[in-house]
Amino acid sequence: MMDAREAMEQLNAEAGGLHIWLRTQANAPAQRPWFRDTGLEVGGELAKGRVGAAQLKPVAHRWRWSEIAPYLDKIAEIARAADVSPIEFAERQQFLLTNPGLSGRLQVTSTMRCAVSTYNPGDVAPVHIHTPNASRTILSERGGYTTIEGERCEAARGDLILTPNGTWHDHGNDGGEPVVWIDVLDLPLMEFLDCVWLDEAYPGDTEGNSRAQRVTFPGAYSQIAYGRGGLVPSFLPHRRGFGRDTSPMFHYRGVDVRGALAGLCREGGDPYDAIALRFVNPATGGSVFPTLDYQAQMLRPGEETRFKRETASTLYIAIEGQGVTEIGGASLDWQTNDIFVVPSFVWRRHINRSQNDAVLYAVSDAPLMDKIGQYRAQGRLPDDTVAELVA
Ligand SMILES: [Fe+2]
Repeated sequence: MMDAREAMEQLNAEAGGLHIWLRTQANAPAQRPWFRDTGLEVGGELAKGRVGAAQLKPVAHRWRWSEIAPYLDKIAEIARAADVSPIEFAERQQFLLTNPGLSGRLQVTSTMRCAVSTYNPGDVAPVHIHTPNASRTILSERGGYTTIEGERCEAARGDLILTPNGTWHDHGNDGGEPVVWIDVLDLPLMEFLDCVWLDEAYPGDTEGNSRAQRVTFPGAYSQIAYGRGGLVPSFLPHRRGFGRDTSPMFHYRGVDVRGALAGLCREGGDPYDAIALRFVNPATGGSVFPTLDYQAQMLRPGEETRFKRETASTLYIAIEGQGVTEIGGASLDWQTNDIFVVPSFVWRRHINRSQNDAVLYAVSDAPLMDKIGQYRAQGRLPDDTVAELVA
């Protein structure tokens, strides 16, 4: 019998050079919410572990899928030989991306955490609720689900599934193949603001092993209620869960996103972001979370954008194709499933030199910066002068 924690430590020593940190339930991060809801107990649990004191800056970085993906299999190998129960081990099987400029902190920017998770057949992440906003971008062709506030969302490649602040949610895989997705959360921001709160005592009915909430909405409810652009039901409250200013649409389908991008392929597009679509709160037209904005953008064969910089950090996931993003003098090439980050106020542009379309999904903390009066954006014009896009 292998000691799972020790095996994870060994694997992490090996993976550290790739700027990832491997996690399962067996070595859950020492970085915890400051408070867990334990009834009338007064004191919070003090944060410990990977919370550095020094002021650190995120840097531009790319994680190559070909280098990091094998670690999902390595975690699964340890799970098979582990000395702890499969459920205890498997409840979370993921690695977290660590920005090389942030000294090992479990975050990719000052505001965002990013993890790559795998769920094997039968894995369940029990129902819970928390204040950080979170999303899943699905990499597997199909399989896996997330149930949010009674709506079960069946995952497929390119889907964006939201679990906003204050929504009960559980994840799992009841299919026959492992599924992989990318989690993005505004947890580091909430941690900095001292408002991470989480609860696992689901008050409603649960199903089966009592770890998953009961499904109470019809399938594809997000599409039924909000899935036809320009039409919003007038009788719904547009508030799901206790969070405010979060999208009542939980599931955005990759096939719809790709179809919408394809339909716009003859348009001029944005000089800095090509053919770009925002995922919006259908009730307001605003960002899906008050903190984070999500976008899908398509670069056509041969397309190059102009340089842009903004006082916001952006995380990119290459969903389709390949390209190059120049970031502050560095040139980062990317392939499908690669992930990269562009720090605040660094010039960047995207280039697709291939014969096929390339699609990037982007997550930006621009809505937060805008709300606190700090959002600015500049673009470089063809004559190399600087245009104030948002002054
Ligand atoms: Fe969660």
